[in-house]
Amino acid sequence: MTQHLLAPITLRDLTVRNRIWVPPMCQYAAAGLDGIATDYHLMHYGSFARGGAGAVILEATGVLPEGRISPQDLGLWDGAQREALRPVVDLLHSFGAAAGIQLAHAGRKASTEPEWGTAHPGASLTAADGGWETVGPSAIAYDALTAPTALDEAGIDEVVAAFAASAVRAVDAGFDLLEVHAAHGYLLHEFLSPLSNHRTDSYGGDLAGRARLLLRVVDAVRAAIPEGMPLLVRISATEWVEGGFDLAQATEVVTWLGEHGVDMVDVSSGGNAAGARIPVGPGYQTPLAAHLRERTEMPVSAVGMLDTPFQAEHVLATGQADVVRVGRAFLRAPNWGIDAALSLRGDNEIIPPPYRRAFRQQLRRG
Ligand SMILES: Cc1cc2nc3c(=O)[nH]c(=O)nc-3n(C[C@H](O)[C@H](O)[C@H](O)COP(=O)(O)O)c2cc1C
Repeated sequence: MTQHLLAPITLRDLTVRNRIWVPPMCQYAAAGLDGIATDYHLMHYGSFARGGAGAVILEATGVLPEGRISPQDLGLWDGAQREALRPVVDLLHSFGAAAGIQLAHAGRKASTEPEWGTAHPGASLTAADGGWETVGPSAIAYDALTAPTALDEAGIDEVVAAFAASAVRAVDAGFDLLEVHAAHGYLLHEFLSPLSNHRTDSYGGDLAGRARLLLRVVDAVRAAIPEGMPLLVRISATEWVEGGFDLAQATEVVTWLGEHGVDMVDVSSGGNAAGARIPVGPGYQTPLAAHLRERTEMPVSAVGMLDTPFQAEHVLATGQADVVRVGRAFLRAPNWGIDAALSLRGDNEIIPPPYRRAFRQQLRRG
């Protein structure tokens, strides 16, 4: 049986051992509120690499302090943060996984309480509780969050420079691939969307204007990293609301991303319209990935409730995506990759030798 999920994939100079990738998932665990990774992050990310993931992409990491979703987010705007990420990268490599990181600016959805452990999960932080002024394309609030200040030209230039500078730090820390976060209603997505971008300057208006900031960020990051390093972008391919950013616009944007040196797009959805009715269910975002893969030259990864190895294998075998990302299922079962390799009758190479005795039964069955 062909095992698409277990086949290596090469992007530029990077070959990743398989197509089981762990997507970015915020942990709100930078305990010092300084954006610095801790032992928690070593243990958390290392477990996915040990468990067979091909690539592990670290959570949304702020390129500027005000670009964090919460004060507990990771950051990469200074050297201390870079140094704390180095051992995480080394640990992922020691287990054979590629290390990625998602560079992010949360825009109008920044400065919120983490999703757990606080009085008002997800609500805007007050200044007294350590909150800060948020920025966005226009002074339009997301749902009940505090309204942002519209970025001026200088602020836009600062964001572009911050993405590039964080990318340089990520390269220095040893990451193999970078992802620019342009999904889920965060800053770059906010610029793309006619719902949140009402600007009348060259960063608003038609799709080319709304995509200008994203393309500037991509150009700046691409220019700052080695030629051989893959650059990924995560998008929300639809906002699931009338009049919002949709699949037709996403198709154009993905074509432009390819022209600007992006190597793969991760296809997510939603996050910028509070009332959107999203048809959540197994594989619900995969048709979006398949559409973009078919209409553009761009390799894509599919994500969203692709929880079982056979389901993930099917997405690849039917040509709907080039890579599958498995998020919450890896949180539930950090050996998801090993289990997939065994149930798809792969070899046992993916199992770290000290663990192999624990899998003898399964190996015998295979
Ligand atoms: C705890 C948690 C944190 C998340 N944080 C991020 C994030 O930092 N960046 C991002 O792009 N998506 C984030 N997501 C979305 C996931 O990357 C993924 O797209 C989503 O969970 C759907 O995939 P799944 O069904 O395999 O979990 C998060 C999801 C979860 C469950």
